[in-house]
Amino acid sequence: LPVTIFDTPEEGCRRIAHSIATTIREKQKTGEKAVLGLATGSSPIGVYQELVRLHKDENLSFRNVVTFNLDEYYPMQPDALQSYVHFMQEHLFRHVDILPENVHIPDGSLPIEKVADFCAAYEQLIEEAGGIDVQLLGIGRTGHIGFNEPGSGLTSHTRLVKLDALTIADATKDFIKEEFVPLRAITMGVGTIMKARKIIMMAWGEGKAPIVRQMVEGKISEEVPASFLQQHERVTVILDQWAAAELS
Ligand code: F6R
Repeated sequence: LPVTIFDTPEEGCRRIAHSIATTIREKQKTGEKAVLGLATGSSPIGVYQELVRLHKDENLSFRNVVTFNLDEYYPMQPDALQSYVHFMQEHLFRHVDILPENVHIPDGSLPIEKVADFCAAYEQLIEEAGGIDVQLLGIGRTGHIGFNEPGSGLTSHTRLVKLDALTIADATKDFIKEEFVPLRAITMGVGTIMKARKIIMMAWGEGKAPIVRQMVEGKISEEVPASFLQQHERVTVILDQWAAAELS
C-alpha cells in the first residue's frame, strides 16, 4: 500500500482536503458531479475543517457535490447528538453550499423490517450517482473500515451489522456510558467501498499504529477488513508519524 507520512495530523488533513478539492474542481469544469464517500469519527474532523476554510476563503463550491456517508449507528435518531447526521451537519454540511438532496447518510431510525430494503436502495443510489469518485476512510482498532468488523467479506454490501466490543468501548466517549452505545450499525460493505475509484485512508496517533501495521504489511484477511485495501489499485494511506511508528 502506498503510504505518505506527515509530522502532524493537521498537515495530513490539509493534504487530504486539497486532494478532495481538486477532484471537486475538476468535475466542476466539465459540468459533472463529484461523488464523495465520507467518514465520521475523530480522524476526518481536520479534513472537514480545511474543506470549510476552502469554501469560505477560496471559493470552493459544493453545488456539484454528492455525498454518501459510510455508516450510521442503529438504532439512532437523526437529530440525536451522537448521530452521524448531526456530526456531518456540524463539521461540514451546514458550513458549505451543498444541496440537501445530494446528501446521503444511512437512516438509523428505520423500523427493523425496513432496513434490508433501505440498504439495497442505498447501493442503488450510489450506482445511479455514477459510483464514488473518492472514498475517505478511517480505521478502527479492530481493523474495521466503515463498520465492517472482523469477519466482513470482500464482497459484503450495505447492511445491518453488530459492532465489536472494542468498537463499542471506543465509542463510549461519545455516549457517556457504555450501555448507551448502540450495539449495531448500518454500514456500506467492504465490496461497496472497494468499488470507489479512489480511496484515501487516514490514521493519526499511536493508538492506531498496531492496526495500521496489519493493514499495510499484514496478510489480506477478513480478520482485518482494512487489509482488503491492499487489493485496490488506487488507494493512498495518509499517516502521521505516530500512526506510522510500527511500519517496517
Ligand atoms: C466512521 C467509520 C469508522 C471510523 C473508525 C475510526 O464513519 O466508518 O470506520 O473511521 O472507527 O474512528 P476515529 O476516527 O474516531 O478513530
